[in-house]
Amino acid sequence: MTAKRELYEELERQACGLLAGERDAIANAANLSALIWQSLPDLNWAGFYFRKGRELVLGPFQGWPACVRIALGTGVCGTAAAGLKTILVPDVHRFLGHIACDGASNSELVVPLIKEGRVLGVLDLDSPLFARFVEADAAGIETLARLWTQASDRL
Ligand code: SME
Repeated sequence: MTAKRELYEELERQACGLLAGERDAIANAANLSALIWQSLPDLNWAGFYFRKGRELVLGPFQGWPACVRIALGTGVCGTAAAGLKTILVPDVHRFLGHIACDGASNSELVVPLIKEGRVLGVLDLDSPLFARFVEADAAGIETLARLWTQASDRL
């Protein structure tokens, strides 16, 4: 097994422990973003946006203050939410419409939070490194996102 896969398996175990017995969506998002922030190297932002109507609104996160509202279909986050699909961006400067909340970001991974076919928001990770995120990161973060949706009550 690769070192990255092992790292995510450990992270999944820790996330299960952290979310067990707690159904508050905000508390679980806050703890999950802290766990990701402390466990994964080379991040400059990790956190949640929640869908409210046609917008994503900033939720719990770690890193510098970020843009509060993102219209569905815009930026990396709004595109992932509108398409219900994970987006890996190796170079954010080449993603048309990327929203630069922190000028230090060079690559990004956005995973939609999906429950019963509906998008509840996104889990967003930014890195100052180019091509920081690969398929193994997308798969690992998708699992964490699924643990959050399963563990938490609707907002
Ligand atoms: N870069 C994102 C905006 C959110 S920040 O990275 C925290 C985007 O293009 O949607």
